Amino acid sequence: MEWRLTIPTASLLMLMLMSSLAKNQAQARNVFNIKDFGAVDDGNTDGSKALSDAWSKACNSRGTAVVLIPSGTYLLGPVRLAGPCNGAIEFQIKGDLKALNSPQLGIDHWITFRYIEDLTITGGGVLDGQGAAAWPSNDCKKNPNCQALPVTMRLDFVSDARIHDVTSLNSKNFHFNIFSCKNITFERVTIKAPDESPNTDGIHMALSSNVFIRDSDIGTGDDCVSLGPGSKNINMTGITCGPGHGISIGSLGGTPNEPAVAKVFVGSSTFTGTTNALRIKTRAPSFQGAVKDITFQDINVKNADNPIIIEQQYCPSKTCSSQSSQVKISNVKFSNIRGTSSSSVAININCSPAVPCTGIELRDIDLKYDGSNGNDEKTSSVCENAQGTAYGTQNPPSCWKSSTLRKLQFI
Ligand SMILES: *[C@@H]1O[C@H](CO)[C@@H](O)[C@H](O)[C@H]1NC(C)=O
Ligand SMILES: *[C@@H]1O[C@H](CO)[C@@H](O)[C@H](O)[C@H]1NC(C)=O
Repeated sequence: MEWRLTIPTASLLMLMLMSSLAKNQAQARNVFNIKDFGAVDDGNTDGSKALSDAWSKACNSRGTAVVLIPSGTYLLGPVRLAGPCNGAIEFQIKGDLKALNSPQLGIDHWITFRYIEDLTITGGGVLDGQGAAAWPSNDCKKNPNCQALPVTMRLDFVSDARIHDVTSLNSKNFHFNIFSCKNITFERVTIKAPDESPNTDGIHMALSSNVFIRDSDIGTGDDCVSLGPGSKNINMTGITCGPGHGISIGSLGGTPNEPAVAKVFVGSSTFTGTTNALRIKTRAPSFQGAVKDITFQDINVKNADNPIIIEQQYCPSKTCSSQSSQVKISNVKFSNIRGTSSSSVAININCSPAVPCTGIELRDIDLKYDGSNGNDEKTSSVCENAQGTAYGTQNPPSCWKSSTLRKLQFI
């Protein structure tokens, strides 16, 4: 039979070819597998050169590049993965990355990402900081010349990043540190370290805006999340915290010209067996600073020592004077906060006499005593230098008269 290519058939073929090309292009993701760059999954061979080489190739390629850590266990020395890159980067951790089993790494991080736009870190794998080797040498509380231990993952000057479905275990210092970043989302991240491990904050951020933390499980030795100066537009929901020191704004006021912490929302989260749950902490004496427009809403607290605490007289060193904090705290709402307190002072609002807190709002608070001595002690509130209002249920009785209808009283 004679084969004749009619014009309609030709156009159809052409169309099919074009659409399959377009499809391939949309799916084109260059994958850079660290094994192809010499990494060995024996948990023993340092893969840092392989990873750095894979990173350079990925960063310089066009389109979306995937840096793949396949399943297996890889030992990894400290690495700095820097941009700017030519396209989006997906850092896919399917295996386990293990830090060197020594206290120090000779640098302040294990894995740092910097100057990158459009980064995804995912894969279901594990970052194991091997912190047990480092924690005993954390003497920064006693030794002013101490060398800070390395942070598991630093993001410096990164924008539009999503970190999801990864686990960080036993960091030597903080698990994640976000510095000078924009639009960073954490989702379904698991963070674990023992409650006695020092300074193992889950996620610490500073000078960063539009940071979202969702549906993440954080149990560690220090703050589950801590917000340093210049944290703005921060939204945390669905966080399970414990053990740990809670979600903490601060400490602030330790350095001059700190930008404010503003527009922070913490919603639908649970704190179990934590030292604090919702905390704002500033130093005294301090430089000037501000904390404003903060909302804590729909929070469940189980057996926390200090469910609600504003602490403006924080002085970690021994040379504290009687001078007070210069950090102004305003517009802080606590709404629908329920559960149990392991100390009788469930609400402790201790503001600065120099710049009293204003606009503190307590709405529908029910915190029962859950002390170990078994009597029916009630919880109480302590407030100093704070102006506020209370609405709805107030257990413990609030420092301000309560009304379901309107605000009644200031101090
Ligand atoms: C934030 O980053 C994500 C990528 O993680 C991006 O898809 C989104 O467009 C960014 N949002 C803004 C407002 O830039
Ligand atoms: C925070 O994020 C949650 C869920 O992602 C959203 O429903 C809520 O409106 C956000 N809150 C604020 C104050 O942006």
